[in-house]
Amino acid sequence: MALRFDILTLFPEMFVPILGTSIPKRAAEKGLVEYRLTNIRDFATDAHKSVDDKPFGGGPGMVMMCQTLFDAVEFAEKQDNRPATRIIFTPQGRLFDQKMAEELSSKDRLLLIAGHYEGFDERIVDGLNPLELSIGDYVLSGGELAAMVVIDCVVRLLPGALGAEHGAVDETFANGLLEYPQYTRPREFRGMSVPDVLLSGNHAQIAKWRQEQRKIRTQNRRPDLWERYQRQNKTF
Ligand code: 6GU
Repeated sequence: MALRFDILTLFPEMFVPILGTSIPKRAAEKGLVEYRLTNIRDFATDAHKSVDDKPFGGGPGMVMMCQTLFDAVEFAEKQDNRPATRIIFTPQGRLFDQKMAEELSSKDRLLLIAGHYEGFDERIVDGLNPLELSIGDYVLSGGELAAMVVIDCVVRLLPGALGAEHGAVDETFANGLLEYPQYTRPREFRGMSVPDVLLSGNHAQIAKWRQEQRKIRTQNRRPDLWERYQRQNKTF
């Protein structure tokens, strides 16, 4: 059965071009995944269609209100029998990484809550008990782009989402190292040549070179990843 995404947002139109392009689109066409968009504002009950209000205690910005969000979650969850893993996007959340993408890709239903404005009423988090996720240490104006990042990362891991000749196994982060440098035609471009080993036809040598390059790059560019890689591959 297809992995079902329920996406709760004030800006469903932001998702349309992303879900309708490239891998996310093809995965839906292949029946691997299904996307359902719910507009949180549809659950506002007052004349102004309010979804946010001023924070108690004062301070800048607006806070997403409980009622509209709880009603939207209950509405979306009723549309299917399967229980959903609830995820809310916030810079206060756990940092999203490839390991979590792999874990989420094994679920059959994900409910993503993308907020806007300064934040959520804390009772949304307390009452819905979602997984709180952040995609990095910087501030976005809303959770929509974060939700799209997570969708893209998860969908491309679904078996059959990438082309037949293409696998999501041998790439950056899959084994904790950055990717090796890649080249294609021509062999020489503006005085810059392709490394000889890649033209040698010696597959053992090529594999060895690539693994060395991955290590060198990881050491130089991401000492944090290199540290972890060394710890996890320690042999006594
Ligand atoms: Cl999930 N939301 C917002 N507003 N900003 C972020 C983020 C999420 N992740 C990184 N920055």
